Amino acid sequence: MTSLLVTTVGELVTWDPERPIVHDAAFVVEAGRVAWFGRRADAPAADVVRDVGGAAVIPGFVDSHTHLVFGGDRSAEFEARMTGEPYAAGGIRTTVAATRAAPDEQLAAGVARHVAEMRAQGTTTVEIKSGYGLTVLDEARSLAIAKDFTDETTFLGAHVVPSGADVASYVDLVTGPMLEKCAPYARWIDVFCEDGAFGEDEARTVLQAGISAGLLPRIHANQLGEGPGVRLAVELGVAAADHCTYLSDADVDALAGSDTVAGLLPGVEFSTRQPYPDARRLIDAGVTVSLATDCNPGSSYTSSMAFCLALAVRDMGMSPREALWSATKGGARSLRRDDVGHLAVGAKADYVVLRAPSFVHLAYRPGVPLVAAVG
Ligand code: NIG
Ligand code: FE
Repeated sequence: MTSLLVTTVGELVTWDPERPIVHDAAFVVEAGRVAWFGRRADAPAADVVRDVGGAAVIPGFVDSHTHLVFGGDRSAEFEARMTGEPYAAGGIRTTVAATRAAPDEQLAAGVARHVAEMRAQGTTTVEIKSGYGLTVLDEARSLAIAKDFTDETTFLGAHVVPSGADVASYVDLVTGPMLEKCAPYARWIDVFCEDGAFGEDEARTVLQAGISAGLLPRIHANQLGEGPGVRLAVELGVAAADHCTYLSDADVDALAGSDTVAGLLPGVEFSTRQPYPDARRLIDAGVTVSLATDCNPGSSYTSSMAFCLALAVRDMGMSPREALWSATKGGARSLRRDDVGHLAVGAKADYVVLRAPSFVHLAYRPGVPLVAAVG
């Protein structure tokens, strides 16, 4: 078995509880896992040596929330928003029509392009949702395509009620035949709990049906206004309540007393001109926070975790260190994964070499491509 020593690491972010950040560091990779890390001077011998010349090395980003299976383009909708139109959940239906019309190969090529774009920007784990098909066939093929790119696939048949359907019969479809066909391709079940999408009772029904089918629950909650989503998330013990833009004090308290990760997606607020979620309020209350892109053609068409991290630092009250933690280890918590999002001994060796001496540059130099290599 070949071992690799990565050395002359100016700043190594491991998130190991004892030594979360090591300066003048090195680490050893064996069989795709971190086998050792520490001070460069103490490094053991290895078969191959890679000298990164003082660069910072961070764990690969864990993008725990994306909608990459889609057809079409909504740049005109974005342009209209930037001149004063509000964002509405109904825009999803535009992408549904384009996705249904796209052949499998076209959808798969789109996912491949976006996943490659993400990897080049340091993302090594990505969650991908369905949700632009909204028929049994289109949801199942969306998930089959997503599954070729990641194990973290999420069934989001309950994204919106498709045009021409009524809520009750659509929920029956989602929790019946659609769930049956989609469950083999999905690890997670998700629902968009919001005015204009699904209410509390419907969201509960959807998530409980998914849980009964062996899927793990996550939720889109409190994106466009305060509502029941976060409360429901905590009631059902879901892994992640994503968006969390509008929270009451009771919502924050409920999250703080739970295992549910609050997923913040600042690309959405950027692209829809909404107020940013208050990460400081959540962290100070003891809530676990993740950061993700929500990459989708409507509300947040960015694939850059570094961009989201910079927004979180600039506008959401997070320190650069908290933001990096949330974009790596926090994302892993959101996906209930222990093997990614960190570089402590035993972790998958998903590491990113930055063209910078410190991870702080991710927020300090916004918009600059700082990823030199992805290991
Ligand atoms: O996460 N909130 C619901 N779904 C997406 C928006 C999708 C769209 O506008 O196409 C989101 O923001
Ligand atoms: Fe989303």
